[in-house]
Amino acid sequence: MPASVIVDALWGDSGKGKACAYLSRKYDAALAVRAGIGTNAGASVTLESGELIKARQLPTGWLNPRTRVAVGSGVLVDPRVFRDEVQRFGIGDRAMVDRRCAVITEQHIADELADDHLASRVGSTCTGNGHARADFILRRAQQARELPELEPYLTDVAAEVNRVAADADQLVIIESSQGTMLSLALSDDYPYTTSGNCTTASALNDVGLNWRHLSEVIMVVKAMPSRVGEGPLPYEISAAEAERRGISEYGVNTGRLRRKAIALDHDLLRYAAMVNGPTQIALTFGDHLDPRIRGARSTAAIGPQVRRVIAEVESATGAPVTLLDTGPRLDDMIELA
Ligand code: IMP
Repeated sequence: MPASVIVDALWGDSGKGKACAYLSRKYDAALAVRAGIGTNAGASVTLESGELIKARQLPTGWLNPRTRVAVGSGVLVDPRVFRDEVQRFGIGDRAMVDRRCAVITEQHIADELADDHLASRVGSTCTGNGHARADFILRRAQQARELPELEPYLTDVAAEVNRVAADADQLVIIESSQGTMLSLALSDDYPYTTSGNCTTASALNDVGLNWRHLSEVIMVVKAMPSRVGEGPLPYEISAAEAERRGISEYGVNTGRLRRKAIALDHDLLRYAAMVNGPTQIALTFGDHLDPRIRGARSTAAIGPQVRRVIAEVESATGAPVTLLDTGPRLDDMIELA
């Protein structure tokens, strides 16, 4: 079991963090690595105890105490967020950051908040990621290796991820961020995108993994998709309608009300499958589709409506739905394969 990548088919906020935590535990992963843009991502997981965990920088694989966690060199690192998560989650020396990561400064965040184009037109999370990436591309950003406070965590994540993935007995899980349809250069919605691509190939690039080590691509499909910020959202419903149905959602980072759709666009799913090459699908937020399934753990609970969506997703993506998420808790999951 060398390496598995978790990517999102659509606009993010789909439960990649939950999938990463779930799979890290199930397969006792040796290493979980964050790919994707940076701290604009927000992962949330509700533990079996009811405790809600929110993370923006580190992959949620740390929930398995035997899993080490790392941030790949292509991911922007905010040292305040990184250290806060290491301390808050008690990760200690299981945490690593690539020494070449570009650094998000408080100035980047201030610049983004004052950037009317990003803040108002694009609907950016204003977490400094776009401005930090621009500085990196212009070769004037700081790198993680320049910050004394990150010194204890610095490593060559690309070397580590390839070393672990080369061992047939160890699993590496790569947790991507955002979603395929927010990709800078692969979404048709520019400028309503994030500041890089969010696909399988970009995740490999973000962490420096040799593609030969990749064995599984788990593409997360949110059964009733959501979008934050501007840009098209097929089958969008009003905030009032989402409220009436009990499926309203708020952003982990920004607290913003997420725009919500009532159905999946099969053309977009086909496109996402074409560029990501999924070997499996995790269908998440199944309880938004059918509230009666909430918290279910057995296939017996799957009614005709959810079965129909599973069949449609499998037909559009050409990959089997192996995980069905049935609620916010980590163990609210049905395994289908
Ligand atoms: P930025 O990457 O923070 O500048 O945001 C650009 C666009 O991507 C905005 O529409 C954001 O709402 C969206 N976006 C960025 N990160 C996420 C995420 O983790 N989930 C969902 N949308 C995101």
